[in-house]
Amino acid sequence: MSALSSAQQPSASPPALTRDRVFTGIQPSAGLPHLGNYLGMLRQAVAMQDRYEAIYCIVDYHALTSIHDGTVIRRNGYQMALSWLALGFDPDRAILFRQSDRPEHVELAYLLSTVVPVSWVERTPSFKEKRRDQPQDVNHALLTYPILQAADIAIYNARYVPVGKDQTAHLELSREIVRAWNARYGEYFVEPEAVFTDSPIVKGTDGLKKMSKSLGNVIEILAEPDVIRKQVMRMVTDTQRILRTDPGRPEVCNVCQLHRFLGDDYESIWDGERSARTGCVDTKRLLADRIIAFFAEARERRQELAARPGYVDEVLRAGADRLAPLARQTLAECRERMGLGGR
Ligand code: AMP
Ligand code: TRP
Repeated sequence: MSALSSAQQPSASPPALTRDRVFTGIQPSAGLPHLGNYLGMLRQAVAMQDRYEAIYCIVDYHALTSIHDGTVIRRNGYQMALSWLALGFDPDRAILFRQSDRPEHVELAYLLSTVVPVSWVERTPSFKEKRRDQPQDVNHALLTYPILQAADIAIYNARYVPVGKDQTAHLELSREIVRAWNARYGEYFVEPEAVFTDSPIVKGTDGLKKMSKSLGNVIEILAEPDVIRKQVMRMVTDTQRILRTDPGRPEVCNVCQLHRFLGDDYESIWDGERSARTGCVDTKRLLADRIIAFFAEARERRQELAARPGYVDEVLRAGADRLAPLARQTLAECRERMGLGGR
C-alpha cells in the first residue's frame, strides 16, 4: 500500500493509489514565474494533477548552489509557492512542498552518488554553464546538483517529470543514475521520463536566448499590468523588418510565436504581419493585452491568497508531512539493500 494513504493524509480526497506519479521541481531563484516557466512547464504540471498523483517541490537546496542569502531563498520560495497556488495548483488533489522540509532527499542523493562516475557529472551542460557564469563560486554542490535532482524524483518513484527542454540532460542523467543503482542493488527505482509541452523552449524578450530570469529577458506573468506591458513592448521582433511597410515573417518573430499560445486567431495575426497590414508595435500591444487578460484571474487570486496569513506555509507544511512516510520508506529500503544501519 502506498505510504500516501497513511493516516497523516487528510481524508477528504486521498490521491488514488493506482495512478502514476508525477514530480517536478522549481527553484526559488525568482519569486515570480515567467512566461517560459508557464508555457514550458507550469501549465503542464497543473493539468497533470487531474490524472496523476502529483508532487511538486520548491527546490531550495538546489537554489543554494547560486544564492547565498537565506532571506532571499525563503522569500522567493514563499512567493513561488504562492504563484503555483494562484495558477491552479490544488492542494486538495496534489502535493506542494519545500525540498528542505524533506531532508531525506539529501541522504538519498548521497546514496545514489556512490554509483555515479565523476565524469558523468563533470560533463553535465548545466555544470559547464555555471562554471562559466559564476567562476568565483564553483562550489561542490554545483557538481552534484543533478544527483540531488535524481534523488528528488526517485525518492517518490515518480514516473513522469514535466520540465522544459533545458532539463533534458538532467533527466537523462536521472535515468542513468537510477539504472546504475538498480543494476548494482536490484530493480527498485522507476526510470523517470521527461514530459514536454508544445512550447518546450520559450525565447526571451531578446528574441534570441531562452527566456530566463538570469538573462533579464523575461515576461513575468503575474506582475502588475504596467510591468508586463513594458516587458512585452521591449521585445525584439523580426530584425529584418525595418520599415512599417516591410512584410513581417511570423515564423521568425518571437511576438508572433507567442501569439500561438494566447488565442486561437493567431493565423489572422500572422496574416496581418505578412501583408504589413499591422506593424510590430500593434502586434506587441495585442500580445501584452492578452497576457494581462489571460493571467488576470491568477493575479487576483495571488493577492487574495497573500492576504491569508500563514496559508502558504500551511500548504507547504502539510505537503511535506504527507510525504514523510513515503520518503522514509524509500530511504529505509535503499539503506537495507546497501547494508546500512542496524537491524
Ligand atoms: P527554472 O526557472 O529555471 O527553475 O525552471 C523551472 C521550469 O521551467 C523548468 O522545468 C524549466 O525547464 C522550465 N523553463 C524555464 N525556462 C524556460 C523556457 N524559457 N522555456 C521553456 N521552459 C522553461
Ligand atoms: N533543475 C531543475 C531546474 O532548474 C529543478 C529541479 C530540481 C527539478 N529537482 C527537480 C526538476 C526534479 C524536475 C525534477 O529547473
